[in-house]
Amino acid sequence: MTEKPLLRVLAGHPVWPPPVWLMRQAGRYLPEYQALRQEGGFIARCTTPDIATEITLQPVRRFGMDAAILFSDILILPWALGQDVRFIDGEGPAMSPIRDIVALGALDLTRAAAAIAPVMETVRRVRASLPNACTLLGFAGSPFTVACYMVEGGGSRDFAATRTLSYTHPVFFDRLIELLVAATIDYLAAQIEAGADAVMLFDTWAGILPPSQFASRVVAPTAAIVDALNRRFPGVKIIGFPRLAGTLVADYVEQTGVDCVGLDTGVDAAGIAEALPETVAVQGNLDPMVLIAGGEALLNETSRICASLRGRPHIFNLGHGILPQTPPSHVADLVAAVRQAA
Ligand code: CP3
Repeated sequence: MTEKPLLRVLAGHPVWPPPVWLMRQAGRYLPEYQALRQEGGFIARCTTPDIATEITLQPVRRFGMDAAILFSDILILPWALGQDVRFIDGEGPAMSPIRDIVALGALDLTRAAAAIAPVMETVRRVRASLPNACTLLGFAGSPFTVACYMVEGGGSRDFAATRTLSYTHPVFFDRLIELLVAATIDYLAAQIEAGADAVMLFDTWAGILPPSQFASRVVAPTAAIVDALNRRFPGVKIIGFPRLAGTLVADYVEQTGVDCVGLDTGVDAAGIAEALPETVAVQGNLDPMVLIAGGEALLNETSRICASLRGRPHIFNLGHGILPQTPPSHVADLVAAVRQAA
């Protein structure tokens, strides 16, 4: 039997108090991350094992989190495939859009394996320095969300170009998703081989699709990734995060076969959990804004969420990533509040 509390939850067992980690727990809100940020660009930080290892460990050291999540980004995969991804300070990611078969043909799966080698070295180093009880999470973006950035050429409020193109050029869009499914399987398999205990698929934009497209662009590709990883690594656990999926969450869980589902801030976690099989874990879903606010509101919301999911397999987390203006002391207060929930 496994000793790591988070892996116990992923195996379908309730643990009290629930294990806790936070999306974007490494990053700009931490002064020790800011100190390393002077040293070069974001992609260089992600692909330099010394630096990425240190950044991954920072929140574990400071807060005693139950999980470390590899310091990287969902857009490292398109970068590794050969797209000209860059991160512009204060603006976010940018790249030349990929909108036709010719541009798609320039991406190269075999090139990706070499490009991600330093990331795997980071996974091995983190693995070697983590406390025994701490779970190491690998991750990737889900094909649909990664495709949103690749087609749009960066971030967007509504990804209008991408969503339109998925109707006007469905064959192209299917090919892109197919390539991303294959690349994501290789990428996550490599992380598991390098020492990741479990993996998470971030589908930040899953919920902007109508149900018919949700089935073909979100559920089907995710199910293919889960199936391939389960065959290759029986027993490896997978967390899916179909953000904004609302009433489609139960279908997502049933049809993809994920072991745990990340819930965003907009849903009642206990209500969603009711509709899921008992052994499927839920992760979430504190509002990142209440973490900025701190004080009574933070303590009340934290204990409310813990209590409402007591008796279920639950991993405490936010409903979306930590924002840069979050005071680190509030994160310490949050972790203490979860641990005192018992
Ligand atoms: O959670 C962690 O601590 C692990 C590392 C991680 C990052 N990004 C680091 C990062 C993970 C898991 C991600 C996921 C990610 N990246 C998502 C899915 C989850 C979500 O937040 O919705 C998405 C959509 C991205 C794409 C991305 N990366 C954007 C849009 C941006 C710019 C906006 C922003 O928040 O900065 C990034 C940059 C990024 N990724 C930073 C970090 C720490 C900031 C880098 C910096 O400026 O130093």
